[in-house]
Amino acid sequence: MNNDEFYIKRCIELAQKALGNTYPNPLVGSVIVHNGEIIGEGYHHKAGEHHAEINAINSVKNKDLIPESTIYVSLEPCAHYGKTPPCALKIKELGFKKVVIGAMDSHDKVNGKGKKIIQDAGIEAVSGILEKECIELNKRFFTYHEKKRPYIILKWAESGDGFLDQDFKPTAVSNTLVNQFVHQLRADEHAILVGTQTALNDNPSLTVRNAEGVNPVRILIDFDLKVPASFNIYNNEARTLILNSVKEGTEGHIHFIKINKDNFLSELMEALYKEQIQSVIIEGGRFTLQEFINASLWDEAIVIKNENLILENGTKAPEFGQIPATIENFRDNTVSFFKAK
Ligand SMILES: NC(=O)c1ccc[n+]([C@@H]2O[C@H](COP(=O)([O-])OP(=O)(O)OC[C@H]3O[C@@H](n4cnc5c(N)ncnc54)[C@H](OP(=O)(O)O)[C@@H]3O)[C@@H](O)[C@H]2O)c1
Ligand SMILES: [Zn+2]
Repeated sequence: MNNDEFYIKRCIELAQKALGNTYPNPLVGSVIVHNGEIIGEGYHHKAGEHHAEINAINSVKNKDLIPESTIYVSLEPCAHYGKTPPCALKIKELGFKKVVIGAMDSHDKVNGKGKKIIQDAGIEAVSGILEKECIELNKRFFTYHEKKRPYIILKWAESGDGFLDQDFKPTAVSNTLVNQFVHQLRADEHAILVGTQTALNDNPSLTVRNAEGVNPVRILIDFDLKVPASFNIYNNEARTLILNSVKEGTEGHIHFIKINKDNFLSELMEALYKEQIQSVIIEGGRFTLQEFINASLWDEAIVIKNENLILENGTKAPEFGQIPATIENFRDNTVSFFKAK
């Protein structure tokens, strides 16, 4: 690992501290180095607040050192006036000696413009340092902008004999350790989606309880509005999108979006893109998961298995047939992680 890679790696570490809190913005970290010494660090905490570069600049005690310093940033500095002025202009104005960028920003509003502002000001700029790692850091953001849909994570828990529930009734399948992990997953991702039958049978709240973090946006597929408004998914703990074929409109934190049943997946993706949802956990049930699997519309899958639990009858786990990239043991449960090719 050379020096540039070392500092970009630090940028990634800083950026990750805000996982789950920056939507719809990307995760970005920045480090300022003078004569081989880090004199400033920062990351983007939350949409609407300072970008990483600005936080790093503000943390520098002796600003006189800036013209002799290099600023490292995991994502190309922005070039547009959003909630804050463009960082590329700030870098130009302060006259840094050099800028080192991890990944370029494929967002239409940036896409090379940030780097160009810096270079046109006569500042040396290099990009593509630990590029793969920087893209992985923002896999949700890049998928959203490039594929015009959220990053999709399929997730379910099945018994040793391959059932999601017992006799179609709510059933605890995984252990408490897995439960904590699942709640952390909710805190990390932007949204969580369930099908009609899951909402009716399990009455889930889909909030973060056994971990720290922001509640994900809840998404319910309910074409005929069968799930009563008294159910937990309608409570005021999170913004909730109800995809249905009956009505449109916003009622407080509940947003009804009309889609057609026939063209369900593509209309859903379009709706979620419009809502700026950058990632979504598909929580089930089988019917809903199988639709995504059959259409090869997913990026990651997480399958929890409780080998010792035998349920004999109920909702069958989806048919998947993929080979996991890794398997982890959570006490007596296994968690298999899959990545789409
Ligand atoms: N262990 C786990 O990880 C886990 C996770 C989630 C759920 N579950 C269990 O799974 C069971 C429910 O699974 P499920 O397969 O019956 O139901 P589901 O996927 O939650 O909902 C499917 C139902 O929703 C309606 N629907 C129609 N079109 C749809 C579409 N395009 N996308 C989504 N839903 C659509 C249909 O009902 P109509 O035909 O009536 O219109 C369909 O039968 C529950 O008992 C729950 O406990 C387990
Ligand atoms: Zn910026």
